[in-house]
Amino acid sequence: MLQGRRVLLAVTGGVAAYKSAFLASRLVEAGAEVKVILTESAGEFIGGQTFAAITGGQPLTSLFGETSVSPHTELARWCDVVIVAPATASTIGKVANGISSDLVSATLLVTQSPVLIAPAMHTEMWEHPATQRNIKTLESDGYLFIGPASGPLAGGDFGMGRMSEPDEIVEAVETILSPDDSALRILVTAGGTREPLDPVRYLGNRSSGKMGHAIADEAARRGFRVTLVTAADMDVLPTVKVVSVETADEMLEAVSGEDADVAIMAAAVADFRPSKLSEGKISRADGLDSIELSPTPDVLASVVARDEKLFVVGFAAETEGVERAIEKALEKKVDLLVYNDVTEPGSGFEGDTNRVVLIDNEGQTDSWPLMSKKEVASLLLDRIVGDLATRG
Ligand code: CTP
Repeated sequence: MLQGRRVLLAVTGGVAAYKSAFLASRLVEAGAEVKVILTESAGEFIGGQTFAAITGGQPLTSLFGETSVSPHTELARWCDVVIVAPATASTIGKVANGISSDLVSATLLVTQSPVLIAPAMHTEMWEHPATQRNIKTLESDGYLFIGPASGPLAGGDFGMGRMSEPDEIVEAVETILSPDDSALRILVTAGGTREPLDPVRYLGNRSSGKMGHAIADEAARRGFRVTLVTAADMDVLPTVKVVSVETADEMLEAVSGEDADVAIMAAAVADFRPSKLSEGKISRADGLDSIELSPTPDVLASVVARDEKLFVVGFAAETEGVERAIEKALEKKVDLLVYNDVTEPGSGFEGDTNRVVLIDNEGQTDSWPLMSKKEVASLLLDRIVGDLATRG
C-alpha cells in the first residue's frame, strides 16, 4: 500500500525514539520512500547513522548549513505524509503555537500534507492542561493523532503516555494515504496504441507513456481515485487501477466503462489502423504493395460528448506550432489542451522532460518552462484542481 509513497519521519527527543528505527524499517519494507529529520534532543536518544542505514539517506537535523538552502520547505513539499514519532510535549507545544525554531517544527508549519502525531511522554506531562490544550488546538487545525497508549514508560514508570507501536502507526499511515469514496475520480489514458497488421506486426508511434503514467502516479499520490487506461508497460503506484490495452478500439471500450470527474487524455492514439488483419504472418515472398487503412475511433471526442460536467484535458504533440494547437483546443471542446512541440529539444517522446503550453477553452495560453514530466504532472493537477474550484 505504501509503495512509492513519500514519508517524512520526524523524530523528537524521547526514549521511544528507538522504536522509530523500527518504524522507519517497517515503512521501507512497505515500499515507502522515507526521509528522516531529528530534533537536537532526539539525537540524545538515537544516532542519525541508524536511520541512514535503514532509509539509505542521511537524516537532517538543522535548518541551516546542511545540504540545502531551505530544507524545511523542500521536505515539507516533497512528502505525501509526515509522521512525528515520538512527539514530545515540547514539539507539540511549539507547533500548536506557531513556533518554528528548529527543523522539525519549521517543516510542520510549512507542509500541506497530512501530519500524523504519535505523542510519547510521562503521564503527568500528557495530562497537563497545557499539553491537552495544545492537542485540542492541533486537532482543530487538522493534525491527526495516534495514541498514546498505557504501558511501561521511561525510568520504570507505568501509565498513559507510551508511544503507539510501529505497526499501528504504519497501518494508520496506510489509511491516511488510501483514497476515500469522496476523492476525485481521475481517468488517464497513456501510451501509444498499436494497430495490428498481422500476428507479429503493427502500426504504432513513438509515445513512451511516461507523461500519462507520471500523471496517474501524481494523482494517486494526492489521494485521488485513479484509473489508468494504458498502452504502455510501466509500473505505477498500487492504488492506481490499471487497464492495459493495445489498440484504439480497446482504449475506447475501456474508457467507456469508467466513470470519472476528470479525464486526462495523454495517450497517443493511432488515427488509422490496417483495414484488414492478416491471420497469418505476411511473408516477403507473398509481397505487399500497400496497406489499406481505416480511421480509428476518436476516444477524446467520445469522452467530451459523454457529460458536460466532466473536465477533459487533451494533449497535442505537434510539429506545426502553437496556432494549430489553439485551433485544436477549440475544435475539440476540451477544458484544457496540453501542447508540446515534439521537434523541440527536451520535448520529444521518449525523454523525461517536457516543455508544454496549456491552452484553455477560450484559446488562452500559459507557457511553462522546460521541466521534468513529473513536475508537469504535478503542476497540471494543481491547475485542474484550481479550475474545478473556480468552476464550483
Ligand atoms: N485522441 C484520441 N483518439 C484518437 C486520436 C486522438 O483520444 N483517435 C486524443 C489524444 O489522446 C489527445 C488528443 O486526442 O489527447 C489530440 O490528439 P492528436 O493526435 O493531436 O489529435 P488528432 O485529432 O488526431 O489531430 P491530428 O490531425 O493533428 O492528428
